[in-house]
Amino acid sequence: MVQVNGNYLKLKAGYLFPEIARRVKAFSEANPEAPIIRLGIGDVTEPLPQACRTAMKAAIDEMGTHAGFHGYGPEQGYPWLREAIAQHDFQARGCQVSAEEIFISDGSKCDSSNILDILGPDNRIAVTDPVYPVYVDSNVMAGRTGEADDAGRYGGLTYLPITAANGFSAEIPEQPVDLIYLCFPNNPTGAVASREQLQAWVDYARRHDALILFDAAYEAFIQDPELPHSIYEIEGARECAIEFRSFSKNAGFTGTRCALTVVPRGLLGTAANGEKVELWSLWNRRQCTKFNGVSYIVQRGAEAVYSAEGKSQVQGLIRFYMDNAAIIRRELSAAGLQVHGGEQAPYVWLKTPEGLDSWGFFDKLLNQAHVVGTPGSGFGAAGEGYFRLSAFNSRARVEEAMERVRAL
Ligand code: MLT
Repeated sequence: MVQVNGNYLKLKAGYLFPEIARRVKAFSEANPEAPIIRLGIGDVTEPLPQACRTAMKAAIDEMGTHAGFHGYGPEQGYPWLREAIAQHDFQARGCQVSAEEIFISDGSKCDSSNILDILGPDNRIAVTDPVYPVYVDSNVMAGRTGEADDAGRYGGLTYLPITAANGFSAEIPEQPVDLIYLCFPNNPTGAVASREQLQAWVDYARRHDALILFDAAYEAFIQDPELPHSIYEIEGARECAIEFRSFSKNAGFTGTRCALTVVPRGLLGTAANGEKVELWSLWNRRQCTKFNGVSYIVQRGAEAVYSAEGKSQVQGLIRFYMDNAAIIRRELSAAGLQVHGGEQAPYVWLKTPEGLDSWGFFDKLLNQAHVVGTPGSGFGAAGEGYFRLSAFNSRARVEEAMERVRAL
C-alpha cells in the first residue's frame, strides 16, 4: 500500500494563487461577459526586452549547428552568466560575491523551497506575517512544522508580524531562531528594509549562529538610492545569509524561467555531531544530483539583461510598472483607502474598507468591479483586513481597474 506524505495533509487551503484562479474561473463561467482585470498574482504582462529576444534567437540558431549545439550544461549555470551577474548585480554595488557563489536556476520559488534539502529538520524557523506563502508551505510539506491552528498559523513556526503598527518591518524575535526568511522589497506589503534594519538582522544571525534566507526578487524596483539591494551590502552577511534573485519580475521572465541563488563560500552550518559544514558544498551537491540546469537559450537571454541595451530596456520595464503602481496608489488614496507600499515595489498593500475582511473585499471587487486582487489573509493571519494589488498589467487595464474601483 503506497503511503502519502502526511505533511501535505496539514496544509490549510489550496495554494493561494490557484485558489484565486479557481474562484475567478467560477465567476467567469457564471458571468461570461464580465471583462475581468487581473491585478492578483504578480505576473508580468509586458513583452520580453528586445535584447533578450535577440540573444535567445541567436542561441536557437547556434543550437541548430553541430558547432554551436549545447547538451547538458553545468548544473550551476554557464560561467559567462554567473560572471555577468557577479559583476553587475553584486561587485558593482560593493558586494564581494564571486561567480562561483552564484547558482543559476529556474526560479526563486523553487530555490527558496529546495534549500530545505540541505538544512536540518530541527531548525527553529521564523517567517514574517504576512509572508510569501511558499516559505511556509514548503516547510509544512517537508515536515518542519506542527499542525495549523484556526488562524492558519502552524505550530513550531515563529511568526514576526509586519503591520502598520511597526511600519511593516520585521522585528527581531525575543526567542532564538535558527532560520529566518526575509523578503525585501517585501511581497506582499511592498515595504522595504533600511540598511540599519538589515544590519540588525545580520548581527542577530551572527550572534545566534542563525541563517538568513534573503529573497531579493524585487530589488530592481527600489527607487531610493540609499536602500540596499542585496543582503551582502550589509557587513557580516556573507557569514550568515543566502540570497535568492530572479529575472522574472525585472526582465519579464516569469514564463521563460531563470533565477539565481547566492551561497557564499565559507558560510557554515552545523552537523548533528557539532562539526561545521560549508553550505556551498551541500547546495552544489544537491543541484548536481537533482537539477540539470536552465536551458542554454534562456541563459543567453538572461545574460543580455546586462548588456547596455538590455539594462536600458529593463529600466524601461521597471519604470512602466512603477508608474502603474503610482497610479494605483493615487487612485486608491483618492477613493479614501489607506495605502502602503507601491513606492519601492510593484505591490500596493491597502487596508480593506470598514466592515469588509480580505476575502469579503476580494468578492466585492470581483463581483462589482470585475477586478481581481489578492486577499491579505492569504499571506498570513496578520494580513487579514488588507488586500494586495499588483502593478503588473498594461497601463490601459490598470487605469480601467482604478476607474472601476473608484466608482464602487
Ligand atoms: C506573487 O504574486 O506573489 C508572485 O507572483 C508569486 C511568485 O513570484 O511566485
